[in-house]
Amino acid sequence: MESPKRHLITCALPYANGPLHIGHVAGCFLPSDIYVRFLRSEGKDVLFVCGTDEHGVPITLKARKEGVTPQEIVDHNHKIIADALNTWGIEFDNFSRTTSPVHHHTAKAFFRDLNAAGGFTEQVTEQFYDPEAEQFLADRYISGTCPNCGNENAYGDQCEKCGRTLSPSELIHPKSTLTGTTPIMKETKNWYLPLDRIQEEFLNDWVESKRDIWKSNVFGQCKSWLNEGLKPRAMTRDLDWGVPVPLDGAEGKVMYVWFDAPIGYISATREILPDDWKTWWKDEGTELTHFLGKDNIVFHTLIFPAMLHEHGGYVLPTHVPANEFLNLEGDKLSTSRNHAVWLHEYLEDFPGKEDELRYVLTAIMPETKDSDFTWADYQARVNNELVAILGNWINRVMVLMHKYFNGVVPASAQINSSVLAEADAFRNELRSHLSSFHFRDGQQALMNIARLGNKYLQDEAPWHAIKVEGGEQKVANVLVTSLELIRLFRDASLPFLPRTAERITHMLNDENGFASGHQLREASLLFKRVEDEEIERQREKLRMQAEMNEQHNTASKQHEPLKAEIVYDDFAKIDLRVGTITAAVPVPKADRLLQLTVDMGFETRTVVSGIAEHFDPSALSGQQVVVVCNLAPRKLRGIESNGMILMAENADGKLEFVQPGKVVEPGSGVS
Ligand code: 2FM
Ligand code: ZN
Repeated sequence: MESPKRHLITCALPYANGPLHIGHVAGCFLPSDIYVRFLRSEGKDVLFVCGTDEHGVPITLKARKEGVTPQEIVDHNHKIIADALNTWGIEFDNFSRTTSPVHHHTAKAFFRDLNAAGGFTEQVTEQFYDPEAEQFLADRYISGTCPNCGNENAYGDQCEKCGRTLSPSELIHPKSTLTGTTPIMKETKNWYLPLDRIQEEFLNDWVESKRDIWKSNVFGQCKSWLNEGLKPRAMTRDLDWGVPVPLDGAEGKVMYVWFDAPIGYISATREILPDDWKTWWKDEGTELTHFLGKDNIVFHTLIFPAMLHEHGGYVLPTHVPANEFLNLEGDKLSTSRNHAVWLHEYLEDFPGKEDELRYVLTAIMPETKDSDFTWADYQARVNNELVAILGNWINRVMVLMHKYFNGVVPASAQINSSVLAEADAFRNELRSHLSSFHFRDGQQALMNIARLGNKYLQDEAPWHAIKVEGGEQKVANVLVTSLELIRLFRDASLPFLPRTAERITHMLNDENGFASGHQLREASLLFKRVEDEEIERQREKLRMQAEMNEQHNTASKQHEPLKAEIVYDDFAKIDLRVGTITAAVPVPKADRLLQLTVDMGFETRTVVSGIAEHFDPSALSGQQVVVVCNLAPRKLRGIESNGMILMAENADGKLEFVQPGKVVEPGSGVS
């Protein structure tokens, strides 16, 4: 295969609805940056583009919730994301935005051309419409009762309580979250990408041609979509946030966010190369590589290629090295639960330790399966590998050079070429790993150079040799060979540890060559040990985040929207009465349940209640409670429960009985 003239590298555009966490960065920002730096260090012509994905319903929802405009949300998050990536040292040629004028222009032109080329089918369907707000409702703008678990606040696309994926028409009593009214069905026209046809005509064969090129996780996922058979997918939406559809009859419609987002790669190129972007996107000599996480595979291997192919004239992706997911301390990373290490916060908490994070995340990169970040592992890798192996080696060589030769490279030294050849073999291994997107193995090969250097120094022990009569020549040979090893290491480390490479260059002072008589700069430590307290602080931070999230959930639960209106007759069906608890015992093997005996005046009842975490059973006898008496009996842990006790939930989640202000006769009605 002819080698490409140029490499166009993209990194999936992050949504501008929140900051980046380590899962995002291990999944695609870091591998793409390593790959780009590698290609550049090999002298290749490379363009690396990304930007924020600023459209889509979640951004409009967040804006509504916070009482600001979607533009304010994306401006705020774009800045946090761009600043963090910049501080961390991700080397984009352009980090753009999908609300930029050039993107809107590019996406509209693409849509128009694709339409003219017959790339869409038009379909009229019935969609939920809010007559009061006079707008169609995206799935997230509809809530109702989950048909699966009865949760009354399920969304039109998913029930967050039981996790079931839903469509809005499955909801019982759907209502608009904009106005609370019941939506009606109304006809609307949308533009569809006929993926069924495109699969037959193009995707089946094209994907098959990637069998030996794509990673098995990527190829496998694609094949399973194709085996199921693709269906036409709507590329337009009735929404007011997005790129307007530039066709007659499409007023008030915007592009589906997954239609415009990948075009963002083209816009980001065009923004910085207005006269030359076509060479990058349309010339056969370009090799296009998309970096992304596994949830984005279908869009980059099927939908975007289908769009590009139908449009015509564009290069298609050669590589799609998607990663799996990273977990945190054994649990899924989650923005909504705030279970995350945020990139911008890491950079604040560990200033100057950009490469430490790169190193650890590369070592555990989820290349073939999900992996787990833990703070203990971070500490161990920094202390045992970066400090003890790499930093220590380079520091010892530098210190000895200053001690024995005042930091001046001795003229007469003879380099041990066999040890350098060994190191070079590791570098070649590294090249081959990076060329095939094996970042973990590539970094292992890099560290093998440091291990080799350490061992060589230890074996040759210049601190002993210097004491032997005439040993100075040997010491010169060993130290100059070590310096050459360090230079080789430094060059090989550029893709992985760019800041460290810079610091090594500074110490070696070899920007303008490295000959005998060369003066080194002062030695300084490359890495510092991570102390237990620092790690404990981070763990504490995670605990605090979880706690605050819990409190926030409880507080927002207090302010859940009112349930659907009922008539008096509905209320009158509930038989509420006051009873007096006469006995309370824990239910065996059920941490949350108490078995209560309640004197209802006219009879004695057994009620099983999930309140064990809130009350000491020995203190309950004599308490008056309100009981729903005509609730159908239910068996809990084999005990028949007859009724339910009314409770009030405090903001901190603590339960209290609903009680009469004064003691009343057991059996007294409540109305
Ligand atoms: O999953 C995501 O975060 C999307 N914003 C990725 C978009 S990638 C591309 F197509 F722009
Ligand atoms: Zn449910």
